[in-house]
Amino acid sequence: MSQTSIPRCPFEHIQNPDLEAEQIAETADLTVKLLDKRYPLKDEQLKFLSEHYPSSIRTLRGVHPKSHGCVKATFTINADIAPEFQVGLFAEAGKQFDAIIRFSNAAALVSPDSAVNSKTNEIEHGSRGMAIKVLNVGGEVLTDDNGAHNQDFLMINQPVFAFANTKDYLRLDRVLDQQDDKPDGFFAPLQLNPAVNPNLTEEKKRQILAYMEAENIAEADIQRMLHSAGIIKGIKSTDVGNPLSIQYFSAAPFLFGSDRVMKFSARPCTLVPPEQSPSPLSDNYLRDVLIETMSKDDALEFDFMVQIRHEGDDFGVDNEDIENASSEWKDKFHKVAKITIPRPQPEVDTTEHLAHCEKLAFTPWHSLVEHQPIGSINRLRKSVYQASADHRLEVDAHAQLPSVVRLLEKLFKSLFG
Ligand code: HEM
Repeated sequence: MSQTSIPRCPFEHIQNPDLEAEQIAETADLTVKLLDKRYPLKDEQLKFLSEHYPSSIRTLRGVHPKSHGCVKATFTINADIAPEFQVGLFAEAGKQFDAIIRFSNAAALVSPDSAVNSKTNEIEHGSRGMAIKVLNVGGEVLTDDNGAHNQDFLMINQPVFAFANTKDYLRLDRVLDQQDDKPDGFFAPLQLNPAVNPNLTEEKKRQILAYMEAENIAEADIQRMLHSAGIIKGIKSTDVGNPLSIQYFSAAPFLFGSDRVMKFSARPCTLVPPEQSPSPLSDNYLRDVLIETMSKDDALEFDFMVQIRHEGDDFGVDNEDIENASSEWKDKFHKVAKITIPRPQPEVDTTEHLAHCEKLAFTPWHSLVEHQPIGSINRLRKSVYQASADHRLEVDAHAQLPSVVRLLEKLFKSLFG
């Protein structure tokens, strides 16, 4: 894979580049470590995998492992696109590209799409993903995709990402690593507020204070933590009935040429039922409904839209609107392209199709230089997505080797290190 060297971007504000580089390296290492702990899967999760994927797929993505399905699509630049938006991928009015779209759940572990919380008795939903790979876009790319020049657009169904920056995401990953993939410890400092936990013991309080000192958690971190908790609460209460019928957002910002920045979003033009999850819930209802929806006849369409800001606009203290992926832009969305998903696509349910899709790697860094990912979370994503995709694909390719070759390899390693 070849990579273009990246010029400094005037919109970014990196407070401590050396520290950030260390945090990114540790997060990439933890991504691989967590994959090694999670896979091969056991019990219920293995059952899901065996039912839906061929045996060549056994190690899934570091995040968004559960796919509802992949569909073929076209991505067409609007014929009436205003000249001010004709930048990068959007340069030529009316130009059409082929595309592939993967719909997923963000949860790091394969689990039911929604589930009842046994403590509160309430149904909790999850974050949903839409990843578009626009194929063969030409131009100069930051990272090629197995030799191809593709433009990936990765989105979630909230306008903000739950974790603001690299520091917070690394702390989350450390908690997942130390606490058996459970994220609750990330929010432990909030328990010091008696309104959150009136029964906190002195011993527990001491432990939390020691943790805060070790992780260098200050007042500003607590404020971000509260904001993250609010976003996660919103995610848990967002009921999605059909992944083909909701709006998705980039949450993080990207360049729009050299002197502007964008966030992007895909919004369905046609609403397809159902609006809500089924009652009673079934584990994989989003996948079931996607397959059912893709068996119908007429095409589905999404508007692809951008919010644009200029150099000189107010980006907050230390360019907070760029550096904090939990900061929502309320700016107007402009329609620049149409995503068309032809139907029917009966192949969405075949194992070959699923296997092909699971072997793809989506990353915001598969991008034209004009749409370079920017901000702390996006800088972090560069090596983390690469680490996740390289590792899962390598482990599964290795497992496919004949057992005698693997045995010889092991012997060679034990003899020569
Ligand atoms: C704005 C924030 C983010 C958005 C919108 C987003 C969205 C997505 C989506 C939609 C996918 C699924 C791609 C597919 O279908 O293959 C994905 C995968 C992934 N995401 Fe993110 N994500 C965000 C931030 C992050 C961060 C901060 C990390 C960790 C540093 C991360 C790590 C990953 C990994 C490891 C994968 C799987 C990569 C692979 O194995 O191919 N994401 N993300």
